[in-house]
Amino acid sequence: MAAASTKLHKADSAVAPHWHAHAKEIQKYGTVIADMPHPLSAKLRADMVSRLNQLLADSINLRDMYKKHHWQVSGPTFYQLHLLFDKHYGEQADIVDTIAERVQLLGGVTIAMGGDVAQLTRIPAPPKGREEVPVQISRLLHAHSIIIAGCLDLSKAADDVNDQGTNDLVVSDVLRPNELQSWFIGQHLVDMPLILNK
Ligand SMILES: [Fe+2]
Repeated sequence: MAAASTKLHKADSAVAPHWHAHAKEIQKYGTVIADMPHPLSAKLRADMVSRLNQLLADSINLRDMYKKHHWQVSGPTFYQLHLLFDKHYGEQADIVDTIAERVQLLGGVTIAMGGDVAQLTRIPAPPKGREEVPVQISRLLHAHSIIIAGCLDLSKAADDVNDQGTNDLVVSDVLRPNELQSWFIGQHLVDMPLILNK
């Protein structure tokens, strides 16, 4: 029987992917496209983009904190919180996408990667290690309060310049879900007897 051939047969380079592309950025972070079919001026859009990127960075941070706590939670409420944290993670992922796409449609550039988010977010970084449930929830509540306060500032600023798209997005898609999530997790910190009254 003939031995299997080990000779390398190379395909034509025309079918190879061009995977070594390097070039300059096509738009710098912090800039907005000047000429766009949108009635808001570039100056106003730049201000909205900057504020939305702040909200985006905080929301990415909160989204990821929910996943961290989903993985690291333990104790008698493990199953319930494991599921709830992941549900909120998914909702925050939708919120992040909604904010990011508004940044782009206003002619801006989204903050996106973790290292850049870490520099911009106002939410304090948790430790790499695990923490108790009350601490996890306290961190989440603090993050929600920062985002909710940011939403109130941003929705007012947007309303003042008649950017009703941003105003509606911030109130309907960010503020209200954050208020609801905050309520859901906050109720776990109420000292309530399980069986007998105190
Ligand atoms: Fe999971």
